[in-house]
Amino acid sequence: TWTTDAFVEEAIREVKARVGDKRVLLALSGGVDSSTLAFLLHKAIGDRLTCMFIDQGFMRKGEPERLVKLFQEQFHISVVHVQARERFLAQLDGVMDPEVKRKRIGHEFIQVFEEESRRLGPFDYLAQGTLYPDVIESADTNVDPATGERVAVKIKSHHNVGGLPKDLRFKLVEPLRKLFKDEVRKVGRSLGLPEEIVNRHPFPGPGLAIRIIGEVTAERLNILRDADWVVRQEINRSGYYHDFWQAFAVLLPIRSVGVMGDQRTYAHPVVLRFISSEDGMTADWSRAPYELLETISNRIVNEVKGVNRVVYDITSKPPGTIEWE
Ligand code: XMP
Repeated sequence: TWTTDAFVEEAIREVKARVGDKRVLLALSGGVDSSTLAFLLHKAIGDRLTCMFIDQGFMRKGEPERLVKLFQEQFHISVVHVQARERFLAQLDGVMDPEVKRKRIGHEFIQVFEEESRRLGPFDYLAQGTLYPDVIESADTNVDPATGERVAVKIKSHHNVGGLPKDLRFKLVEPLRKLFKDEVRKVGRSLGLPEEIVNRHPFPGPGLAIRIIGEVTAERLNILRDADWVVRQEINRSGYYHDFWQAFAVLLPIRSVGVMGDQRTYAHPVVLRFISSEDGMTADWSRAPYELLETISNRIVNEVKGVNRVVYDITSKPPGTIEWE
């Protein structure tokens, strides 16, 4: 039978045997998979692990700083914080189409990853938080078509974009590849990963950029980050965090009329998307308590400049998707 401790011990032994005294690069996103992987590898090979965190500028308020600080100061895992906000934003200038948006972000990610890994390298291995469902779903994404060898062709969070150049096709270290998500959480917990990461709701690779419908601008990112911050605070405070698979805000590019004091306002609506799900493949909209919705709505219209209306998405998946783009 599967036990967490036995798995961890065996995985550490395997990584040590495989990697030897070579160096490993890991793209850290802050999600439970890459964080658990970082903890596991750090235990196995110490400072021969380098984590690269690429800050695209699409994460939630304060998250990049919090993540890097947590890893470095509390756990002494070395993280290179790549500040790339301007580059990503420039890529999205004038882009309205969701698919183009994703492609541009994915492409820029590979670009930055490539530059930085050349600067920090050389590395022999790339660690990826591939899980069992990823192996099944996209069995071939990391097989070199020329040799049939299992190497890093694509980066996990950006399957859908072009791959790494030939000379950067590191050998892969994928110690989580036999695990399901709930097992990863157990492993993370047993390695001392903080609960805030173990229990983190799924967050898409392109982040807030796909929760701003239409063009992404610095101003809109600030508005959505502030609205999202209110949602997160109130959900944590309410004690309902675990009832949701995801709970987040979406910013619409349209504006509607409202009134504030004796002033007419003309500002954006924010959509609240709270859902329950088992695996993200299908989902139901959550029957969130009215009091929670009321508090969030009041706070957003009062505290977030640029928003004068809050609406609730009551669409399940299918036919809706979880994200709006
Ligand atoms: P949809 O919107 O397709 O989302 O119903 C299903 C789940 O996948 C997440 N998601 C992503 N995760 N990169 C990711 O790492 C992405 O590009 C991406 N798009 C959607 C979404 O948050 C939900 O949990």
